[in-house]
Amino acid sequence: PGSMLQTARLRADAAGLARAADILRRGGLVAFPTETVYGLGADATDPQAVARIYAAKERPSFNPLIAHLDSLESAQRQGVFDETARRLAEAFWPGPLTLVVPVAPTCTVSHLARAGLDSVGLRVPAHPLAHALLQATGRPVAAPSANRSGRVSPTDAEHVLGDLDGRIDAVLDGGASQVGVESTIVACLEGPPRLLRPGGVPREAIETLIGTRLESGAEGGRSPLAPGMLASHYAPRARVRLNATHVEAGEAVLLFGPDAPKGAKTARMTLNLSENGDLMEAAAHLFSYLRQLDASGAATIAVSPIPETGLGEAINDRLRRAAAER
Ligand code: TXA
Ligand code: MG
Repeated sequence: PGSMLQTARLRADAAGLARAADILRRGGLVAFPTETVYGLGADATDPQAVARIYAAKERPSFNPLIAHLDSLESAQRQGVFDETARRLAEAFWPGPLTLVVPVAPTCTVSHLARAGLDSVGLRVPAHPLAHALLQATGRPVAAPSANRSGRVSPTDAEHVLGDLDGRIDAVLDGGASQVGVESTIVACLEGPPRLLRPGGVPREAIETLIGTRLESGAEGGRSPLAPGMLASHYAPRARVRLNATHVEAGEAVLLFGPDAPKGAKTARMTLNLSENGDLMEAAAHLFSYLRQLDASGAATIAVSPIPETGLGEAINDRLRRAAAER
């Protein structure tokens, strides 16, 4: 998908770091080493940049991504840390721990990176190159593992290139990852903290610190905490009508492509995901446009047909959830 890029292999020196930070700040994709696995990084505040991650990975759905930060102070601008979250961060950051916390009012991580949730996954990695890159970039960096979807996570620059050469702007070569498994994910939301994914920080170390057993909750779609199951997180208040080829008076309309459906002039509000039919642009806009249309007060949001190819599969998946009966 998309045009082939020339993927630069950047050395772990000052020039390589400066170049990597520059690419990220311009909305490009840079794979970089962390102590767990190599991450495929993009500016988390830029939904178009985040959409490129999904396209490069051919990720079939918009899982929420982890936002990487240079310090606890930076993380506290993005999320709300309760007592437990703060103690975990102080004990295990920088390091292989991701905390899922409620979004702060000052959060700049895009809706797309959060998959539309009101929580955000935050991590301060320990790898010195990752730390230097995050400092130089000066923004939260969204980064899933730098592999194509369905493949094994990469722990060196060669793995990354094997999967993603020609699909990303650069890889920062920092040798092999130390931890080699992804971060442990703990949700500190309402109720007791939950282990969403076992990883680089052992459960026991966390339980010793917090003085209680960690409840379990699976990552990525199996537990009520995981986004896939929380239909309501994707569901606007308005009814959602898919594959609309005509518009009823007063409906809000989510368009895709150059053609307006019949009756579009009578719409209460109209937004176009991508006038020239670019699925990456559409993905970048999806969650925020749904929110805006819902805020118009219309009883129904009519959605133009969107092709099921490439990112369209993920877009349609989320739209079907939004349209599902509740
Ligand atoms: O070690 C790691 O964590 C690596 C390196 C690059 O940092 N990253 C990584 O990202 O493994 P990824 O995208 O493969 O895993 C992110 C997981 C997803 O399974 C998602 O379910 C969970 O984090 N996650 C992120 N934000 C969340 C949220 N707000 N609520 C629930 N789960 C969340
Ligand atoms: Mg992964």
